[in-house]
Amino acid sequence: MILTIDGKKISSQEGESILDVAKRANIAIPTLCYKPWTEAHGGCRLCSVEITRDSWDGWKKVVTSCNHPAQDGLIVYTNTERILKLRKTLLDLLLARCPQTPEVQKMAKEYGIETTSYKERENPDDCILCGLCVKACEAIGANAISTVLRGIEKKIDTPYSQPNDACIGCASCAEVCPTHHIQYQEKEGIRHIWKQDFPLLKCSQCGRTIITKAQRDHFMEKSHLSARYFEKCELCHKKETAEQFYKLR
Ligand code: FES
Repeated sequence: MILTIDGKKISSQEGESILDVAKRANIAIPTLCYKPWTEAHGGCRLCSVEITRDSWDGWKKVVTSCNHPAQDGLIVYTNTERILKLRKTLLDLLLARCPQTPEVQKMAKEYGIETTSYKERENPDDCILCGLCVKACEAIGANAISTVLRGIEKKIDTPYSQPNDACIGCASCAEVCPTHHIQYQEKEGIRHIWKQDFPLLKCSQCGRTIITKAQRDHFMEKSHLSARYFEKCELCHKKETAEQFYKLR
């Protein structure tokens, strides 16, 4: 499959997005909610590009490049006037929502925006409402958090802001958060996240913290792996396998 990005003909493989192909060709497209190891869902819209085809008679449409497939014959423009205007508006709005968030400030600055032209949110936090945390929680099979409330009050939380039994304390939500809004603490073998405490398990071999007990139970149920498998960390598992191969030489 061949597509054209900013006048450059580039081949793409099955399953690649426009963003994947652009990255490979060193064509810069800004992203905020894209993480290569999660399924892209077009949350922040900053990666928007214009697409057209020869058969479209000059008609163009705006799509988010992180989750639009890189199809054969597609003609993509990453920096048109329309796209730059859209990104500026998005960043202006994001800056009103998260005026103190370094990731947002930096990107806005790159587009010439120092301060928002909208009214800043009262009591702002760092959440850009991209929904990546909710997607990560869904992917892990916990479904413990979601978007709650509406309008200016909209936020990501557990139902009724209460500790949720569905949460396994895996912290995937915090790991994927592009602005580091979701925080957790670890102290004396306990991880605190989403208003709950989760006992942590340690590797029986090296003592490194592995996962929470609730996370282990969840994975055991989903994967049918035995509790023994979770007694060691990934590194010690690898070491053990390497040692076995060595003995088999
Ligand atoms: S990076 Fe594509 S929508 Fe956020």
